[in-house]
Amino acid sequence: MQLSIGSQFATHTPPKGQLLKWVGNKQKFAAQISRCFPTDYGVFFEPFLGSGAIMATVAPRHGVGSDIFPPLMEIWKKLKVDPAGLVEWYAERRNRLQTESYVEVYESVRSSFNKRHNGADFLYLTRACYGGIVRFRKSDGHMSTPCGAHTPIPVDTFRKRVDEWRVRLRNVRFINVDYRDAFTLAKSGDLIYCDPPYSHSQSILYGAQEFQLEELLEAIENAKARGVNIALSIDGDKKSGNYVCDLPIPSGLFEEDISIAVGQSMLRRFQMQGQSLETEHVSDRLLLTYPLN
Ligand SMILES: C[S@@+](CC[C@H](N)C(=O)[O-])C[C@H]1O[C@@H](n2cnc3c(N)ncnc32)[C@H](O)[C@@H]1O
Repeated sequence: MQLSIGSQFATHTPPKGQLLKWVGNKQKFAAQISRCFPTDYGVFFEPFLGSGAIMATVAPRHGVGSDIFPPLMEIWKKLKVDPAGLVEWYAERRNRLQTESYVEVYESVRSSFNKRHNGADFLYLTRACYGGIVRFRKSDGHMSTPCGAHTPIPVDTFRKRVDEWRVRLRNVRFINVDYRDAFTLAKSGDLIYCDPPYSHSQSILYGAQEFQLEELLEAIENAKARGVNIALSIDGDKKSGNYVCDLPIPSGLFEEDISIAVGQSMLRRFQMQGQSLETEHVSDRLLLTYPLN
């Protein structure tokens, strides 16, 4: 696909495949979400970058992608400065499947990662772990997700994804910071897209960081007051168990509240070990501090 990255609004088309497998990623909804962004803005910020689905869809002319999780940011920085080296990280581990079983390779890479967190092992783990669920034990912080059921993608497929993603993200600066620090970089006329850990279901994921939605809402209020536009994805009418999420959103902070249908919850499917989920319908909300055009 030809990308005209000279324009800030080059595309609402997500990349063909995900670079990282990541539970809760926004790849499928990226077109719907990005169409709700303003038609003109300065720098595009994504401070809860995760697997970068929205950033790669927008392919901004000026972008800042950040996340609090160091091994993840090592991967994004590597993509930027040494894409061939990133393919090499993957190949070194994926090629072991020629002589070892999926489970052997996975468990050895996971044990290496748990001894010392690093981007190279983490890259393979995101591709090979069960359902892209990056889960850590509360007691010792070890990644505990079991090996996935499918063969991780071939090295050639991964290389093609690297080629597409590095072009889409070539104007993005990657930094390993808490979202509060990323927010301070945004100026009037910039756009911040936030996809924080889900308030009800994801506290154990992604390194078990302490995340308080109230603090994010405060940061959004401050940024809005300086003229920054913010779009926030958040739990919608999720009926897992018997509650409807009830969020502490200050009145007047957001001008639009859009429902994004996301279908079944991947995490829930994992917890229910394949039981039928016919009654489970999930949608996200996309809250905007600015009016839709
Ligand atoms: C729901 S995921 C984002 C998924 C992303 N939209 C995608 O499509 O893959 C949330 C991300 O927030 C990150 N995170 C959690 N707490 C954070 C914090 N205080 N500051 C910055 N990032 C944080 C996690 O590491 C995780 O990558």
